[in-house]
Amino acid sequence: MSRTGFLTYLCLFTACCWSSEAMPRKVSQEAVNDRPVIGVLTQLVSDDVMKPFGKTYIPASYVKYLESGGSRVMPIRLTLTTADYENIFKKINGLLFIGGAVDLETSDFARVAKVFYRLAVEANDAGDSFPIWGTCMGMQLLTVLVAEKNLLTRTTAENVALPLNLTTEAHSSRMFTGFPDELMKALTQEPLTGNFHHYGVTVQNFQENTKLHSFFSLLSTNVAESGAHFVSTIEGRRYPFYGVQWHPEVNRFQWDRELNFPHSAHAVQLSSLLAQFFVNEGRRSLHRFDNPEEEASSLIYSYTPVYAGNFTGYEQIYFF
Ligand SMILES: *[C@@H]1O[C@H](CO)[C@@H](O)[C@H](O)[C@H]1NC(C)=O
Ligand SMILES: *[C@@H]1O[C@H](CO)[C@@H](O)[C@H](O)[C@H]1NC(C)=O
Repeated sequence: MSRTGFLTYLCLFTACCWSSEAMPRKVSQEAVNDRPVIGVLTQLVSDDVMKPFGKTYIPASYVKYLESGGSRVMPIRLTLTTADYENIFKKINGLLFIGGAVDLETSDFARVAKVFYRLAVEANDAGDSFPIWGTCMGMQLLTVLVAEKNLLTRTTAENVALPLNLTTEAHSSRMFTGFPDELMKALTQEPLTGNFHHYGVTVQNFQENTKLHSFFSLLSTNVAESGAHFVSTIEGRRYPFYGVQWHPEVNRFQWDRELNFPHSAHAVQLSSLLAQFFVNEGRRSLHRFDNPEEEASSLIYSYTPVYAGNFTGYEQIYFF
């Protein structure tokens, strides 16, 4: 995206029971996957300056964000069949829906996301934990999938860093568990979250839609330029699905001077903890590739990002 285009729409649980000779040996251990792979759907190129490079892309900032939490990334193309996606689902340990500017009901991005969303719901229902994170338009997409209806309205907050107005539920959430008190306080007082959107779900629409508010806990709200209160952070009540209307990846991995990317120590800490949190959710998934060769050829490492700092708001972009 051009600089202006960017502004558009944009367990680990190892229970080690040391048993002495005198005690009955009790081993309770939840299986953990320490080699998680998070899938990232490629995004459709909509910005003219990016068109010469490819039809779909993933900004490198999202890849670095996931890698920083201890996972690897598999780019997932939008041109495959449902059977292909069902096969990929058995190999990956979570999904990130990135931002962008596409139709949330009719685009290929929406079509593929819907396949994975169905698979993830079915898996979680069957006790096969599989997390999904949606950022910006990715969160908007999650709300469309859950509500089975597009509830978006104009809630512009473009190129502005904001503190979060946390709800009481934020303090008992999974997402913010273990956050230091100082950071929780900073989150409500300092502009730690970068906002680059025109559309969103108003708090009123969220509360009036039974499907949405029974599925997600509302963890934070913010106020748009128009004065409308919009949903800024959500967490699935029963499912490991998470959404943020803001961009945690920019705090550490995007640097355009014209864009309000928060880079303070607290902003960086927030971004780090959320990446670690989501990847930890992925560690609970035991899906895996059939063999190391298949895994290696599926990961993003064999692609080279393009330097894009001189024509977009991103430093580097992977094109597909
Ligand atoms: C914060 O959210 C509450 C509702 O949870 C709302 O009443 C209040 O106006 C909001 N404050 C700001 C500054 O957004
Ligand atoms: C951006 O920089 C690269 C590398 O220096 C250069 O090849 C390319 O032409 C530049 N693109 C624009 C649009 O200036």
